[in-house]
Amino acid sequence: MGDTGADPLTECSSRLLEQERLIKTLTAEINGLKNPQTLERSPHLEELMEENARLQYRLNILKRSLQEDQPPCSRSMLNINQRLQEVFGEAIRASFPQVATPPMTVATTQQGRPGDYQCNSAMALAQLLKASGEKVSPRDVAQKILENLPENELVEKTEVAGPGFINIHLKKSFVSKLLSNLLINGVQPPALASRKKVVVDFSSPNIAKEMHVGHLRSTIIGDSLCRLFEFLGHEVVRLNHVGDWGTQFGMLIAHLQDKFPDYLTASPPIGDLQAFYKESKKRFDEEEDFKKRAYSCVVRLQSKEPEFIQAWNLICDVSRTEFQRVYDCLEVQLTERGESFYQDLMKIVIQELKDKGVLEFDEGRHILFVPGHSVPLTVVKSDGGFTYDTSDLAAIHHRLFQEKAHTIIYVTDSGQSTHFQLVFAAAQMLGWYDPLVTRVEHAGFGVVLGEDKKKFKTRSGDTVRLMDLLEEGLKRSMDKLKDKERDKVLSPEEMTQAQRSVAMGCIKYADLSHNRINDYIFSFDKMLDDRGNTAAYLLYALTRIRSISRLASLDAVALRAAASTTPVLLDHDREWKLGRCILRFPEVLQKVLEDLLLHPLCDFLYELATTFTDFYDSCYCVEKDRLTGEVIKINMWRMLLCEATAIVMEKGFEILGITPVHRM
Ligand code: ARG
Repeated sequence: MGDTGADPLTECSSRLLEQERLIKTLTAEINGLKNPQTLERSPHLEELMEENARLQYRLNILKRSLQEDQPPCSRSMLNINQRLQEVFGEAIRASFPQVATPPMTVATTQQGRPGDYQCNSAMALAQLLKASGEKVSPRDVAQKILENLPENELVEKTEVAGPGFINIHLKKSFVSKLLSNLLINGVQPPALASRKKVVVDFSSPNIAKEMHVGHLRSTIIGDSLCRLFEFLGHEVVRLNHVGDWGTQFGMLIAHLQDKFPDYLTASPPIGDLQAFYKESKKRFDEEEDFKKRAYSCVVRLQSKEPEFIQAWNLICDVSRTEFQRVYDCLEVQLTERGESFYQDLMKIVIQELKDKGVLEFDEGRHILFVPGHSVPLTVVKSDGGFTYDTSDLAAIHHRLFQEKAHTIIYVTDSGQSTHFQLVFAAAQMLGWYDPLVTRVEHAGFGVVLGEDKKKFKTRSGDTVRLMDLLEEGLKRSMDKLKDKERDKVLSPEEMTQAQRSVAMGCIKYADLSHNRINDYIFSFDKMLDDRGNTAAYLLYALTRIRSISRLASLDAVALRAAASTTPVLLDHDREWKLGRCILRFPEVLQKVLEDLLLHPLCDFLYELATTFTDFYDSCYCVEKDRLTGEVIKINMWRMLLCEATAIVMEKGFEILGITPVHRM
């Protein structure tokens, strides 16, 4: 931070010290006095003691708040945008103390325009001032802000442009220093005020039903959000809220009893659970006796008869194994905590609702109306059974009170948005959480479409099995590698590594690089294209950058050592552009964190890769002898720029759940 006068903590401490000195002298004086009554008659001392206590109290508060604001380690990457907001915020407050909450916007300057960042607050400020009767032009507002700009470490110069923009030019020495720090410390997360518990509810397929492309989206997006929170240093609980409870288990168990009578002793070979589901559904619809038995099975399962619990477990296990194949392939970790987990809690929650007198009775159902919504939640069905609403009320209760989560995120298709808004509103109404303290959000996403822009189906019109889809991805990525004759250069092992990395990387990246709110068109051809904003392109870009340091025979250790002795020069225009681009990483992550949208991170990585290409095209890193091909010169500061680009890209991949390879 720039030294802009004494901060409140230092000021408070020095006053405290002074006071303590005074008290000591006074006490000594008093002790030296023969007449103890003087003590009572010394109002000065009393006043001083009181003030001392007050100061002590303030100092403690200040110390505590400061501890929270201080990064756990100063090795963190600095968020330049945020730092500029602090500096300009101070200037604005000094210039217009009459504005209680002044608007604050700092943005990166568009390419080709003067400056690196710009502060765009003057226009909005002028509007505010006008509204309160003060007429000042935005340009004058901007000018005044600049007059009050505090001394700081990062702004080289500024100028007012156009209607009142303030162009900000960063100090080269400062940017260079940040790059050196990045190379020495590695990509460290931004300063964390405090470690929080974050629950992410994602993937969440339904037992005995097909895990579909919607669940694939949820798995990919949810995993990436978890990775971001993990990188930031939070404690993340990755919950798989599987649909493992409900009336469908009655018919499944009844069918299991008929088909595999010895299921209790020998594990039933249900190869195809979907077919098994279809068979039992057919019987349920056609055979009256079977239907009756299915109902009694539900009752006996719900009263937890061991035999029925075992049958239920067997069926769940078949699904679980299927799901796990998908998670293994995608390398996604999840903790299963399905609807059944909340059985007992649902009863407790319903009792709470009854006690609070908020439930209404409607045609046999118990429903719950929440403010601002015309549709109610159905808490108990007319047959006494619980619903999706009931289990989600119990789930949010558990996450708030047992998990004590500070942030809870649900990743499902946008079709469930109303359901979640109702659940959140109900929880707030019941006083379970305050949205100003706890962040509870539904991260919804659009539908997956086929290349014909219709619902994603196989050629024969069936729903696509996820495992088939992932396997096709693997096959296509291998074909592509062979087309490019990579098998002539890479070992079989490297080939399989590249195949996996490209296939899974492309499937994930295609999803994450689109705004999740929109529908998205699934196209293997597009996602595996190694031109444009795809994982294939980015993975290649990274291997190319990595090959530069190999050419110069520099490993990570050597580069890190070089970073503390060689300054990162930024004299060439392309070096300067690349340096600033690399350092935008923290502000991009901050944005992702605020909006829970991952595409800005993808856009950033793509921009970083293209900015790197521009740099590499015009700035020699390693110079070779034209004839012998021998390395004759290594421009170390440029090697450092290559390395900084690579480590930021790698961290970006890590957050997106993409595994880079050394060679491909
Ligand atoms: N099983 C649900 C589905 O397949 C998703 C569950 C999402 N999580 C939740 N807490 N409701 O659509």
